[in-house]
Amino acid sequence: MDSRKRIRKAVFPVAGLGTRFLPATKSIPKEMLPIVDKPLIQYAVEEALEAGIDTLIFITSRKKHAISDHFDSEFELETRLAADGKNDLLERIVGIVPDHVNRVHVTQPEALGLGHAILCAESVVGDEPFAILLADDMIRNDGAGALAQMIDLYRQTGASVIGVEEVAEELTSSYGIVGVRENPAGHMAIETIVEKPQPANAPSRLGVVGRYVLDPSVFAQLRHVQAGAGGEIQLTDGIAALLATHPVLALPLVGERYDCGSRHGFIKATIEYAVDHDDIREDMLDHMQAVLAREGRL
Ligand code: G1P
Repeated sequence: MDSRKRIRKAVFPVAGLGTRFLPATKSIPKEMLPIVDKPLIQYAVEEALEAGIDTLIFITSRKKHAISDHFDSEFELETRLAADGKNDLLERIVGIVPDHVNRVHVTQPEALGLGHAILCAESVVGDEPFAILLADDMIRNDGAGALAQMIDLYRQTGASVIGVEEVAEELTSSYGIVGVRENPAGHMAIETIVEKPQPANAPSRLGVVGRYVLDPSVFAQLRHVQAGAGGEIQLTDGIAALLATHPVLALPLVGERYDCGSRHGFIKATIEYAVDHDDIREDMLDHMQAVLAREGRL
C-alpha cells in the first residue's frame, strides 16, 4: 500500500446458503439469526461503525430484503412505540445506522464463493483499502472491537491485515490457515495462506477469523482465481496471490471468538451474550445451574 488511506468502506458478504441452520435459514439469511435480541449482521455492522466505517456494502444474492429492511427505518413501528411511550424499545430500533453512513446493496448473481462475492464489491470499493467482515464470526471483548484493532495495525504499518486465532489441530480443515514469520518490527508477516488444509498440510494452527483489511489490488488477483477448495472461488486464494506483491500481516485478535456459522458456536455466543444482559442474567445463570445439576455436571 502506498499511502495510508483511511479505511472507510466495509464489505459484508451475506449471500451464503446457511445450510447448517436449516430449516431456520430456509427463508431468512443466516446473518439475520439473533444472538439474544440482535441479528448477527447488526453486531458486525456495529463493530464496523465503531471502527470508523462510513460505507456499508452488503453482497447479497437472495432473501436480501430482510437485511435491507432491518437497517431501514420502520415508520409504523416507531410511531406506535412513541405513542405508547415505549422509549426503551424505540431506542433499540432507531439510529442503528447513523445518517452520515451509506448503505449499498450489491447482488452476487451466482453463489460462486467468498472470493467471487468480494469481487462483486469492486466497483463500489474502487481503489482504496477496505475491510471485510463475515458476520457469523463474533469477537467479544471489553475493549476495542476486532476491526478497530486491525485498522490500528494498518495505520501503523500500511500493510493489509488479517485477523487470526489459534485453532485446534483437527479444525484446520474448517478455516483458512496462515504460515507466518516475525518481521523486524515484531509483526507476524504472512508467508503462505491455504484454504481449509488437512492438519498434515497446514502451515500452522493460526486460523483466519472472518475479519480482513485488504489492499484493493486483491480484486485484480481475484479476477484470475479459479475454483479452489469446495469448488468455490476462494478469497484465500486471492490473498495468496496478493502476497507476491503486498505485505499482509496476521493479527491475533484480542477477545473471545465465536464461530456462529456452527450450531455449537452460535449457542455458546448466545449464552455468553445472555449473561451480559443484566435483565436476564440471573435467570439464565440459575437455569444453567439447574441444567448442569440435572445432567450430573455439578
Ligand atoms: C471463510 C473463509 C476461511 C475463514 C472463515 C472464517 O470460510 O473462506 O478462510 O477461515 O471464513 O470464518 P467459511 O466459514 O465461509 O467456510
